[in-house]
Amino acid sequence: QELQLNLEEIEKGGYDHFMLKEIYEQPRAIKDTFRGRLRTEQGIIKMAGVDQNIEKFLNADRIIIVACGTSWHAGLVAEYIFEDLVRIPVEVEYASEFRYRNPVITEKDVVIAISQSGETADTLAAIKLAKEKGAFVFGVCNVVGSSIARETDAGAYTHAGPEIGVASTKAFTTQITVLTLLALKLAKHKGMFSEDKFHEFLTEMENMPAKVERALQSNALVEIIADVYKDSENCLYLGRGFNFPVALEGALKLKEISYIHAEGYPAAEMKHGPIALIDEHMPVVVIAINKGHYEKVVSNIQEIKSRKGKIIAVVTEGDEQVKELADHVIEVPETMESLSPLLTTIPLQLLSYHIAVMRGCNVDQPRNLAKSVTVE
Ligand code: G6P
Repeated sequence: QELQLNLEEIEKGGYDHFMLKEIYEQPRAIKDTFRGRLRTEQGIIKMAGVDQNIEKFLNADRIIIVACGTSWHAGLVAEYIFEDLVRIPVEVEYASEFRYRNPVITEKDVVIAISQSGETADTLAAIKLAKEKGAFVFGVCNVVGSSIARETDAGAYTHAGPEIGVASTKAFTTQITVLTLLALKLAKHKGMFSEDKFHEFLTEMENMPAKVERALQSNALVEIIADVYKDSENCLYLGRGFNFPVALEGALKLKEISYIHAEGYPAAEMKHGPIALIDEHMPVVVIAINKGHYEKVVSNIQEIKSRKGKIIAVVTEGDEQVKELADHVIEVPETMESLSPLLTTIPLQLLSYHIAVMRGCNVDQPRNLAKSVTVE
């Protein structure tokens, strides 16, 4: 028993919990994900599973992404990235709905299944269905040799390393990394942007581990903010565009490990419902980076403020406008809008972690949840 405990301490590498260790592993995990694939000097992205099937991707009418939980959120981020960079229609489906819906799938569809464990029963069933209908199925898994990795026609591993905490962190950011590489690769093949633009993307991807490292430096501030809101009963997360799925993921993280009811919403949908909930007891986490729909998000923040909601904003380093309005601002480094989810996610992971610890919750093994769901 004692030996077992000691072993676990060693595995945690000096961190109090696996979740925190895995949050801090993200710069390295992201680097491991693009290592060998991202070849900035040569101006190429190498992904064997894609190279061998490039025609399938280039001739696809549509990409259908199937996944569950956090992996489904990574799929939503990918939808924005694929549509923006590759100009190919994308649908993102909960595997559990897709498999029972008699979905329209053709041989010209490419199905991408995203799964950390590679064992999720619903995702596996969705893959089998897509294959029966003749679609080409590509897997994005973390666990090497897992059922989904074996069942798919081809794939790309995330190389995040083992994820022990039930709440997914580094699996999420590395899934986004793989999917971004895939999108960039296809966009290049389709001639969607100039060599210069492509080079700019590759260089920025290479900068990401260092930028994630910088985003992690918000930890001490996030801990102070967590202390203010740890007793909240509800929390709202808002984001737009590429950062709308990040809002969903932030809310999921908080509810999974702290048991606080949290909802993620596209910021502009707030007026169609959640605004009714806002009062002085409601913390609202808003992703308000200086790209995309910044001004619109600023006006959403004003609407929250005028209803006395408490605003925790994730902003770009050096932001002035939101600082004037929000109760707390957490800065992340500047980057291209399509890559920003890799950074904005970080403080939200830390926020849920600290709140859960302060509430005395079992962070690594939250009640009722399993790391891998192999039953329906
Ligand atoms: C469970 C886990 C989540 C995960 C989801 C999908 O609910 O607790 O963290 O996102 O399953 O798992 P997968 O292994 O398919 O990514």
